[in-house]
Amino acid sequence: MQTYRIALIPGDGVGQEVVPAARRVLAALPLAFEFVELDAGWEVFERTGSALPQRTASAIRGCDGAIFGATQSPSRKVEGYSSPILALRKQLDLYANLRPVVSMPVPRSRPGIDMLIVRENTECLYVRQERLEDGGNTAVAQRVITRRASERIARKAFEQARLRGALLQRRRGQSLMLHSSLPPRPSPLVTVVHKANVLSLTDGLFREACLAVAREYPDVQVEEQIVDSMVYRMIREPERYDVIVAPNLYGDILSDAAAALVGGLGLAPSANASDTFTLVEPVHGSAPDIAGRGLANPCAAILAAAQLLAALGEGSAAEQVEAAVLRTLAEGFQSADLGGAATTETMTAAIVERLNG
Ligand code: NAI
Ligand code: MG
Repeated sequence: MQTYRIALIPGDGVGQEVVPAARRVLAALPLAFEFVELDAGWEVFERTGSALPQRTASAIRGCDGAIFGATQSPSRKVEGYSSPILALRKQLDLYANLRPVVSMPVPRSRPGIDMLIVRENTECLYVRQERLEDGGNTAVAQRVITRRASERIARKAFEQARLRGALLQRRRGQSLMLHSSLPPRPSPLVTVVHKANVLSLTDGLFREACLAVAREYPDVQVEEQIVDSMVYRMIREPERYDVIVAPNLYGDILSDAAAALVGGLGLAPSANASDTFTLVEPVHGSAPDIAGRGLANPCAAILAAAQLLAALGEGSAAEQVEAAVLRTLAEGFQSADLGGAATTETMTAAIVERLNG
Protein backbone atom coordinates (compact mmCIF):
# COMPACT_ATOMS: atom_id res chain seq x y z
CA MET A 1 0.00 0.00 0.00
CA GLN A 2 1.22 3.50 -0.86
CA THR A 3 2.07 5.81 2.04
CA TYR A 4 0.91 9.39 1.46
CA ARG A 5 3.11 12.09 2.95
CA ILE A 6 0.80 14.88 4.06
CA ALA A 7 2.05 18.28 5.23
CA LEU A 8 0.02 19.67 8.13
CA ILE A 9 0.22 23.45 8.58
CA PRO A 10 -2.21 24.35 11.38
CA GLY A 11 -1.16 28.03 11.52
CA ASP A 12 -2.90 30.27 14.06
CA GLY A 13 -6.06 30.35 16.17
CA VAL A 14 -8.62 27.65 15.39
CA GLY A 15 -6.25 26.27 12.74
CA GLN A 16 -4.52 24.63 15.74
CA GLU A 17 -7.79 22.92 16.61
CA VAL A 18 -9.31 21.94 13.27
CA VAL A 19 -6.19 20.61 11.50
CA PRO A 20 -5.59 18.00 14.24
CA ALA A 21 -9.26 17.03 13.85
CA ALA A 22 -8.73 16.47 10.11
CA ARG A 23 -5.61 14.45 10.90
CA ARG A 24 -7.57 12.23 13.28
CA VAL A 25 -10.12 11.49 10.58
CA LEU A 26 -7.46 10.65 7.97
CA ALA A 27 -5.63 8.44 10.45
CA ALA A 28 -8.83 6.46 11.02
CA LEU A 29 -9.08 5.50 7.33
CA PRO A 30 -7.72 2.21 5.96
CA LEU A 31 -4.93 4.11 4.15
CA ALA A 32 -1.30 4.79 5.12
CA PHE A 33 -0.25 8.35 5.91
CA GLU A 34 2.92 9.99 7.14
CA PHE A 35 2.15 13.41 8.58
CA VAL A 36 4.72 16.20 8.42
CA GLU A 37 3.97 19.01 10.90
CA LEU A 38 5.02 22.45 9.65
CA ASP A 39 4.82 26.02 10.97
CA ALA A 40 3.43 29.14 9.33
CA GLY A 41 1.60 32.27 10.38
CA TRP A 42 1.56 35.12 12.81
CA GLU A 43 2.65 33.21 15.90
CA VAL A 44 5.79 31.85 14.19
CA PHE A 45 6.42 35.32 12.70
CA GLU A 46 6.42 36.88 16.16
CA ARG A 47 8.71 34.12 17.40
CA THR A 48 11.17 33.97 14.49
CA GLY A 49 10.58 36.96 12.20
CA SER A 50 9.32 34.81 9.35
CA ALA A 51 5.68 33.90 8.66
CA LEU A 52 6.73 31.13 6.29
CA PRO A 53 9.90 29.50 7.62
CA GLN A 54 12.29 28.10 5.01
CA ARG A 55 11.80 24.60 6.39
CA THR A 56 8.06 24.80 5.71
CA ALA A 57 8.54 26.09 2.17
CA SER A 58 11.01 23.33 1.31
CA ALA A 59 9.52 20.39 3.28
CA ILE A 60 6.12 20.85 1.65
CA ARG A 61 7.68 20.09 -1.73
CA GLY A 62 8.56 16.60 -0.52
CA CYS A 63 4.92 15.87 0.36
CA ASP A 64 2.06 14.47 -1.71
CA GLY A 65 -0.38 17.12 -0.51
CA ALA A 66 -1.01 19.58 2.32
CA ILE A 67 -3.65 20.66 4.80
CA PHE A 68 -3.47 24.31 5.84
CA GLY A 69 -5.47 25.65 8.80
CA ALA A 70 -5.60 29.43 8.90
CA THR A 71 -3.29 32.25 9.70
CA GLN A 72 -3.96 35.49 11.43
CA SER A 73 -3.04 38.55 9.37
CA PRO A 74 -2.79 42.12 10.61
CA SER A 75 -4.95 44.60 8.67
CA ARG A 76 -2.20 47.21 8.98
CA LYS A 77 1.12 46.83 7.23
CA VAL A 78 3.70 45.11 9.45
CA GLU A 79 7.32 45.30 8.30
CA GLY A 80 8.57 41.85 7.19
CA TYR A 81 5.18 40.12 7.44
CA SER A 82 3.50 38.72 4.38
CA SER A 83 0.71 36.20 4.13
CA PRO A 84 2.08 32.62 4.05
CA ILE A 85 -0.91 31.22 2.15
CA LEU A 86 -0.45 33.76 -0.64
CA ALA A 87 3.27 32.90 -0.74
CA LEU A 88 2.58 29.16 -0.87
CA ARG A 89 0.02 29.59 -3.66
CA LYS A 90 2.65 31.48 -5.61
CA GLN A 91 5.64 29.22 -4.86
CA LEU A 92 3.74 26.04 -5.68
CA ASP A 93 1.83 27.66 -8.56
CA LEU A 94 -1.49 26.61 -7.03
CA TYR A 95 -3.40 28.43 -9.73
CA ALA A 96 -6.88 27.05 -9.13
CA ASN A 97 -8.98 27.58 -6.03
CA LEU A 98 -11.82 25.05 -5.96
CA ARG A 99 -14.68 25.75 -3.60
CA PRO A 100 -17.56 23.28 -3.52
CA VAL A 101 -20.82 24.77 -2.25
CA VAL A 102 -23.18 21.94 -1.39
CA SER A 103 -26.40 21.84 0.63
CA MET A 104 -25.81 20.46 4.10
CA PRO A 105 -28.19 18.62 6.43
CA VAL A 106 -28.35 21.52 8.93
CA PRO A 107 -31.23 23.95 9.51
CA ARG A 108 -29.10 26.89 8.36
CA SER A 109 -28.48 25.44 4.91
CA ARG A 110 -30.78 25.93 1.96
CA PRO A 111 -31.60 22.70 0.08
CA GLY A 112 -30.97 21.85 -3.55
CA ILE A 113 -27.58 23.56 -4.00
CA ASP A 114 -24.58 21.82 -5.53
CA MET A 115 -22.11 24.10 -7.23
CA LEU A 116 -18.37 24.45 -7.57
CA ILE A 117 -16.73 27.86 -7.64
CA VAL A 118 -13.44 27.80 -9.57
CA ARG A 119 -11.46 30.89 -8.68
CA GLU A 120 -8.30 32.05 -10.42
CA ASN A 121 -5.69 32.06 -7.67
CA THR A 122 -2.55 33.85 -8.87
CA GLU A 123 -3.32 37.26 -10.31
CA CYS A 124 -6.00 39.98 -10.59
CA LEU A 125 -5.73 42.56 -7.77
CA TYR A 126 -3.92 39.99 -5.60
CA VAL A 127 -0.62 40.70 -7.36
CA ARG A 128 -0.53 43.39 -4.64
CA GLN A 129 1.03 46.12 -6.75
CA GLU A 130 -0.18 49.10 -4.76
CA ARG A 131 1.30 52.54 -4.53
CA LEU A 132 0.56 55.93 -3.08
CA GLU A 133 0.60 59.07 -5.20
CA ASP A 134 -0.28 62.68 -4.68
CA GLY A 135 1.41 62.92 -1.29
CA GLY A 136 -0.53 59.95 0.04
CA ASN A 137 -3.93 61.23 -1.07
CA THR A 138 -4.36 58.82 -3.96
CA ALA A 139 -3.90 55.07 -3.70
CA VAL A 140 -3.53 53.04 -6.88
CA ALA A 141 -3.66 49.25 -7.27
CA GLN A 142 -2.66 47.43 -10.40
CA ARG A 143 -4.85 44.60 -11.67
CA VAL A 144 -3.18 41.96 -13.82
CA ILE A 145 -5.08 39.49 -16.02
CA THR A 146 -3.15 37.29 -18.44
CA ARG A 147 -4.41 35.09 -21.27
CA ARG A 148 -2.31 32.18 -19.96
CA ALA A 149 -3.77 32.26 -16.43
CA SER A 150 -7.30 32.85 -17.75
CA GLU A 151 -7.09 29.94 -20.18
CA ARG A 152 -5.73 27.49 -17.64
CA ILE A 153 -8.35 28.35 -15.02
CA ALA A 154 -11.04 28.04 -17.70
CA ARG A 155 -9.68 24.63 -18.67
CA LYS A 156 -9.76 23.57 -15.00
CA ALA A 157 -13.39 24.70 -14.77
CA PHE A 158 -14.48 22.81 -17.90
CA GLU A 159 -12.59 19.68 -16.80
CA GLN A 160 -14.27 19.86 -13.39
CA ALA A 161 -17.66 20.31 -15.07
CA ARG A 162 -17.11 17.07 -16.98
CA LEU A 163 -15.92 15.18 -13.87
CA ARG A 164 -18.89 16.39 -11.85
CA GLY A 165 -21.39 14.84 -14.24
CA ALA A 166 -20.80 11.40 -12.72
CA LEU A 167 -20.38 12.70 -9.16
CA LEU A 168 -23.70 14.57 -9.20
CA GLN A 169 -25.49 11.49 -10.46
CA ARG A 170 -24.18 9.52 -7.48
CA ARG A 171 -24.97 12.25 -4.99
CA ARG A 172 -28.53 12.52 -6.19
CA GLY A 173 -28.87 8.89 -5.17
CA GLN A 174 -27.90 9.69 -1.57
CA SER A 175 -30.92 10.97 0.27
CA LEU A 176 -28.68 12.48 2.95
CA MET A 177 -27.34 14.93 0.41
CA LEU A 178 -30.82 16.36 -0.08
CA HIS A 179 -30.45 16.35 -3.83
CA SER A 180 -33.04 13.73 -4.62
CA SER A 181 -35.53 16.49 -5.42
CA LEU A 182 -33.27 18.02 -8.05
CA PRO A 183 -34.09 17.31 -11.68
CA PRO A 184 -31.10 15.80 -13.50
CA ARG A 185 -29.02 18.43 -15.23
CA PRO A 186 -29.24 17.96 -19.03
CA SER A 187 -25.53 18.68 -19.41
CA PRO A 188 -22.80 20.27 -17.31
CA LEU A 189 -22.87 24.08 -17.20
CA VAL A 190 -20.01 26.56 -16.73
CA THR A 191 -20.89 30.17 -15.83
CA VAL A 192 -18.14 32.69 -16.66
CA VAL A 193 -18.17 35.67 -14.27
CA HIS A 194 -16.73 39.05 -15.27
CA LYS A 195 -17.36 42.77 -15.49
CA ALA A 196 -16.26 43.24 -19.09
CA ASN A 197 -18.93 45.88 -19.65
CA VAL A 198 -16.87 48.25 -17.46
CA LEU A 199 -13.36 46.74 -17.44
CA SER A 200 -13.19 45.92 -21.12
CA LEU A 201 -9.45 45.19 -21.24
CA THR A 202 -8.86 43.14 -18.08
CA ASP A 203 -12.23 41.43 -17.69
CA GLY A 204 -12.56 41.50 -21.46
CA LEU A 205 -9.46 39.34 -21.76
CA PHE A 206 -10.65 36.95 -19.05
CA ARG A 207 -14.03 36.59 -20.79
CA GLU A 208 -12.52 36.08 -24.22
CA ALA A 209 -10.04 33.45 -22.97
CA CYS A 210 -12.79 31.50 -21.17
CA LEU A 211 -15.11 31.55 -24.18
CA ALA A 212 -12.26 30.38 -26.43
CA VAL A 213 -11.58 27.42 -24.11
CA ALA A 214 -15.32 26.69 -24.03
CA ARG A 215 -15.16 25.82 -27.72
CA GLU A 216 -12.90 22.86 -26.81
CA TYR A 217 -15.72 21.43 -24.65
CA PRO A 218 -18.80 21.14 -26.87
CA ASP A 219 -20.37 18.74 -24.34
CA VAL A 220 -20.37 21.43 -21.62
CA GLN A 221 -22.80 24.37 -21.80
CA VAL A 222 -21.36 27.81 -21.21
CA GLU A 223 -22.98 31.08 -20.18
CA GLU A 224 -21.62 34.42 -18.96
CA GLN A 225 -22.80 36.62 -16.12
CA ILE A 226 -21.75 40.10 -14.98
CA VAL A 227 -20.41 39.82 -11.42
CA ASP A 228 -22.93 42.05 -9.64
CA SER A 229 -25.95 40.34 -11.16
CA MET A 230 -24.15 37.05 -10.50
CA VAL A 231 -24.23 37.72 -6.75
CA TYR A 232 -27.92 38.61 -6.98
CA ARG A 233 -28.87 35.53 -8.98
CA MET A 234 -26.68 33.25 -6.91
CA ILE A 235 -28.58 34.31 -3.78
CA ARG A 236 -31.99 34.20 -5.51
CA GLU A 237 -31.64 30.91 -7.39
CA PRO A 238 -28.44 29.09 -6.40
CA GLU A 239 -29.95 25.78 -7.56
CA ARG A 240 -29.43 26.67 -11.21
CA TYR A 241 -25.63 26.89 -11.01
CA ASP A 242 -23.14 24.10 -11.61
CA VAL A 243 -19.53 25.29 -12.14
CA ILE A 244 -18.72 28.99 -11.81
CA VAL A 245 -15.38 30.37 -13.01
CA ALA A 246 -14.17 33.81 -11.94
CA PRO A 247 -11.11 36.03 -11.65
CA ASN A 248 -9.44 36.06 -8.22
CA LEU A 249 -11.23 38.91 -6.39
CA TYR A 250 -14.74 38.15 -7.69
CA GLY A 251 -14.20 34.48 -6.91
CA ASP A 252 -13.07 35.29 -3.37
CA ILE A 253 -16.16 37.36 -2.63
CA LEU A 254 -18.61 35.05 -4.41
CA SER A 255 -17.37 31.98 -2.59
CA ASP A 256 -17.66 33.47 0.90
CA ALA A 257 -21.20 34.63 0.06
CA ALA A 258 -22.01 31.18 -1.30
CA ALA A 259 -20.79 29.55 1.93
CA ALA A 260 -23.52 31.47 3.77
CA LEU A 261 -26.18 29.70 1.67
CA VAL A 262 -25.21 26.24 2.90
CA GLY A 263 -24.54 26.58 6.62
CA GLY A 264 -21.66 29.02 6.87
CA LEU A 265 -17.89 29.13 7.15
CA GLY A 266 -17.67 26.27 9.65
CA LEU A 267 -18.71 23.89 6.86
CA ALA A 268 -16.90 25.38 3.83
CA PRO A 269 -13.77 23.66 2.45
CA SER A 270 -11.50 24.71 -0.39
CA ALA A 271 -8.60 23.33 -2.41
CA ASN A 272 -5.69 25.19 -3.98
CA ALA A 273 -4.42 23.14 -6.89
CA SER A 274 -1.71 23.08 -9.51
CA ASP A 275 -1.60 20.30 -12.06
CA THR A 276 0.55 18.21 -9.69
CA PHE A 277 -0.07 19.36 -6.10
CA THR A 278 -3.07 20.17 -3.91
CA LEU A 279 -3.14 22.16 -0.68
CA VAL A 280 -6.53 22.16 1.01
CA GLU A 281 -7.83 24.52 3.67
CA PRO A 282 -11.05 25.51 5.36
CA VAL A 283 -12.36 28.76 3.85
CA HIS A 284 -12.52 30.34 7.31
CA GLY A 285 -9.75 32.25 9.07
CA SER A 286 -8.20 31.92 12.52
CA ALA A 287 -11.44 32.93 14.31
CA PRO A 288 -9.74 34.73 17.21
CA ASP A 289 -13.14 35.25 18.89
CA ILE A 290 -13.50 31.52 19.61
CA ALA A 291 -9.90 30.25 19.38
CA GLY A 292 -8.50 28.12 22.19
CA ARG A 293 -11.92 27.21 23.60
CA GLY A 294 -12.51 23.92 21.81
CA LEU A 295 -15.60 25.33 20.09
CA ALA A 296 -14.44 25.46 16.46
CA ASN A 297 -16.43 23.49 13.95
CA PRO A 298 -13.99 20.92 12.48
CA CYS A 299 -16.22 20.07 9.48
CA ALA A 300 -14.70 22.59 7.04
CA ALA A 301 -11.20 21.23 7.67
CA ILE A 302 -12.40 17.61 7.54
CA LEU A 303 -14.28 18.21 4.26
CA ALA A 304 -11.10 19.88 2.96
CA ALA A 305 -9.20 16.69 3.85
CA ALA A 306 -11.79 14.81 1.76
CA GLN A 307 -11.02 17.13 -1.16
CA LEU A 308 -7.36 16.23 -0.73
CA LEU A 309 -8.19 12.51 -0.78
CA ALA A 310 -10.09 13.00 -4.04
CA ALA A 311 -7.13 14.88 -5.53
CA LEU A 312 -4.83 11.99 -4.51
CA GLY A 313 -7.06 9.61 -6.45
CA GLU A 314 -8.65 8.16 -3.29
CA GLY A 315 -12.20 8.91 -4.42
CA SER A 316 -13.94 6.28 -2.33
CA ALA A 317 -12.14 7.36 0.87
CA ALA A 318 -13.13 10.95 0.06
CA GLU A 319 -16.77 9.91 -0.23
CA GLN A 320 -16.51 7.91 3.00
CA VAL A 321 -15.33 11.03 4.85
CA GLU A 322 -18.01 13.26 3.28
CA ALA A 323 -20.72 10.75 4.15
CA ALA A 324 -19.50 10.55 7.77
CA VAL A 325 -19.63 14.35 8.10
CA LEU A 326 -23.12 14.49 6.60
CA ARG A 327 -24.42 11.73 8.85
CA THR A 328 -22.96 13.43 11.91
CA LEU A 329 -24.67 16.71 11.01
CA ALA A 330 -27.92 15.02 10.03
CA GLU A 331 -27.99 13.19 13.36
CA GLY A 332 -28.00 16.52 15.15
CA PHE A 333 -24.39 17.20 16.10
CA GLN A 334 -24.19 20.98 15.68
CA SER A 335 -21.35 23.16 16.87
CA ALA A 336 -21.86 26.68 18.26
CA ASP A 337 -21.69 28.34 14.81
CA LEU A 338 -24.63 26.13 13.77
CA GLY A 339 -26.59 27.00 16.89
CA GLY A 340 -25.75 23.84 18.85
CA ALA A 341 -23.61 22.77 21.78
CA ALA A 342 -21.27 20.22 20.16
CA THR A 343 -17.55 20.89 20.61
CA THR A 344 -14.62 20.30 18.25
CA GLU A 345 -13.93 17.13 20.23
CA THR A 346 -17.47 15.70 20.21
CA MET A 347 -17.99 16.50 16.51
CA THR A 348 -14.66 14.93 15.51
CA ALA A 349 -15.25 11.82 17.63
CA ALA A 350 -18.73 11.43 16.10
CA ILE A 351 -17.34 11.73 12.56
CA VAL A 352 -14.60 9.18 13.23
CA GLU A 353 -17.19 6.83 14.71
CA ARG A 354 -19.36 7.10 11.58
CA LEU A 355 -16.53 6.55 9.09
CA ASN A 356 -17.23 2.90 8.70
CA GLY A 357 -20.95 2.93 7.99
P1 NAI B 1 -12.83 34.17 10.37
O1 NAI B 1 -13.20 33.24 9.28
O2 NAI B 1 -11.66 33.82 11.19
O3 NAI B 1 -14.09 34.33 11.35
C1 NAI B 1 -15.35 34.85 10.92
C2 NAI B 1 -16.46 34.35 11.87
O4 NAI B 1 -16.69 32.97 11.65
C3 NAI B 1 -16.09 34.48 13.34
O5 NAI B 1 -17.24 34.80 14.07
C4 NAI B 1 -15.61 33.09 13.71
O6 NAI B 1 -15.80 32.77 15.07
C5 NAI B 1 -16.47 32.22 12.82
N1 NAI B 1 -15.76 30.98 12.48
C6 NAI B 1 -14.71 30.87 11.63
N2 NAI B 1 -14.31 29.59 11.58
C7 NAI B 1 -15.10 28.89 12.40
C8 NAI B 1 -15.17 27.51 12.77
N3 NAI B 1 -14.33 26.57 12.28
N4 NAI B 1 -16.11 27.15 13.66
C9 NAI B 1 -16.97 28.05 14.16
N5 NAI B 1 -16.97 29.35 13.85
C10 NAI B 1 -16.03 29.77 12.98
O7 NAI B 1 -12.66 35.61 9.69
P2 NAI B 1 -12.17 36.98 10.34
O8 NAI B 1 -12.70 37.10 11.73
O9 NAI B 1 -12.50 38.00 9.35
O10 NAI B 1 -10.60 36.90 10.39
C11 NAI B 1 -9.86 36.47 11.53
C12 NAI B 1 -8.40 36.31 11.12
O11 NAI B 1 -8.29 35.27 10.19
C13 NAI B 1 -7.80 37.56 10.47
O12 NAI B 1 -6.50 37.73 10.97
C14 NAI B 1 -7.78 37.21 9.00
O13 NAI B 1 -6.76 37.86 8.31
C15 NAI B 1 -7.55 35.73 9.05
N6 NAI B 1 -8.04 34.97 7.87
C16 NAI B 1 -7.22 34.01 7.38
C17 NAI B 1 -7.61 33.23 6.32
C18 NAI B 1 -6.68 32.16 5.88
O14 NAI B 1 -5.74 31.84 6.56
N7 NAI B 1 -6.90 31.55 4.73
C19 NAI B 1 -8.91 33.41 5.66
C20 NAI B 1 -9.73 34.43 6.28
C21 NAI B 1 -9.28 35.20 7.34
MG1 MG C 1 -11.65 34.80 1.54
